[in-house]
Formats: sequence, structure tokens, C-alpha cells
Amino acid sequence: MKIIKVKNYDELSKKAANIIASQIISNNSCTLGLATGSTPIGTYKELVKLYNENIIDFSNVKTANLDEYKGLTKDNDQSYYYFMHQNLFNHVNINKNNTYIPDGTIENPDTACKSYEEILKKLGGVDLQLLGLGHNGHIGFNEPRDTFSLETNCVELAESTIKANARFFESIDDVPTKAYTMGIGTIMKAKKILIIVNGIDKADIVQKLVEGVVTPNVPASVLKFHQDVTLIADEEALSKCTLN
Ligand code: F6R
Repeated sequence: MKIIKVKNYDELSKKAANIIASQIISNNSCTLGLATGSTPIGTYKELVKLYNENIIDFSNVKTANLDEYKGLTKDNDQSYYYFMHQNLFNHVNINKNNTYIPDGTIENPDTACKSYEEILKKLGGVDLQLLGLGHNGHIGFNEPRDTFSLETNCVELAESTIKANARFFESIDDVPTKAYTMGIGTIMKAKKILIIVNGIDKADIVQKLVEGVVTPNVPASVLKFHQDVTLIADEEALSKCTLN
């Protein structure tokens, strides 16, 4: 795992956007795997800036998002569909028909997950996957468990994830308890992976990711087995690593 240490969130966002821009410039019809949550918001802002400066062109880019809450409609302002349009898709020249997000409105998990895997296969896989990191080590919504998940699956969100995400909802009772997420196997198939983490509250989990053992109890730890992973983390997030 290549580690890029940055001073702060701004620097993290610029570095991450530059890496994604370089992917788009080297292959303008690439497939980007995208994440939501608070961490990538700055990265998306920087990508919009690069687009406005005519440095990158999204017209042939395809995207596949990691996850979506089960039960939320596209117009729900907490859905990841809504998030992606607000933060990126509405501000660049991407063809929205080339953007894919698991469909949270499909009631039957089997149908929802199989159809998303089909989409990913048709896209020919992901060239560059952007990830955030949950406090419990989740990537996508793959929560700690006894084995690594393989394909897109329906998960029960961990109590800690529901609490962490409650900040985006009016009350904790409004946070959906289930989500559809690419599996760990799906994520590991990406050609390149870029994981971005900031803040002191992520220092413990970053230490486990960087220096701990590979275990499904820390789902992100599996990234150590991937051949092309870059972690961009700020000083606070890296503060508990001995490499400091
Ligand atoms: C969201 C996702 C999650 C988040 C993680 C960190 O699509 O896949 O794994 O990346 O929960 O969230 P933030 O960035 O809000 O700390």
C-alpha cells in the first residue's frame, strides 16, 4: 500500500482529485468507482474545478457507486443517488446514463444485488475505485463480520455506522438499517484503489489498516492484498501509526 501523508483536508482533496483526473486523462472512457460520505465531498469539488478549467472531460466517463441505502428513493436528500447528483454529476458534463448506483428502491435484495453485479460486468469492471473508511473499518457498507463478502450484497448496518450517519438525518430513527453495497470481492477486482481518510477520529482505524493484520473484522485490511492501493491520509488520521 502506497501512503501519501498530507497536512489537511484541503490537500487531501486536491491530491485525490489529481489522481482521479490523471486516470480520466489517460483513459477518457474509464469507469470510476465512487464513494459518498463526508470525506469525498472536497475531492468532488476539486474535480468540478478541474472540469471548469477544461482540464478534464467527463463526457465518456462511466461511474459505478459503491452503495445505497435500502428503501430510500432517488429524490430523498439522504439517498446516495441524490448525493452524487448534488456533489458531482450535476456540475460536470457526464452522461447521466453512464452513472450507476445500486437501486435502493428494489425491495428484493437478490434482484437488486444481482442486477448491480450484471451492470458492473457489462461495464467491464472498475478502473479506479475511490473509497472512504468507516470508523469500524468498513469499506462500502461492508461491515465487520466473520468472512469477507464477495459480490454486491444487502447488509444490516452496524450500530456504530447508524450512529455515525445519524448526523445527516433529522433523527437516528430516520437512518435506514439496511443498504446494498458492492462486496469486498467486487471492490478488490478494481484495477486501482484510492482510499482517502482524514481526522483524528479515524486515527485508531487507520493504525489498524496500516499496521494491523488482515481480518474480516477490519474489512478494509483486505486492501493490503491488492496490488495497487494508494492511501491518502492527513496528519491527524496517521497520528497513531508508528511510521510517524
Ligand atoms: C459511502 C461509503 C462508506 C464511507 C464511510 C466513511 O459510500 O462507502 O464506506 O466511505 O462510512 O464515511 P465518511 O467519509 O462520512 O467518514
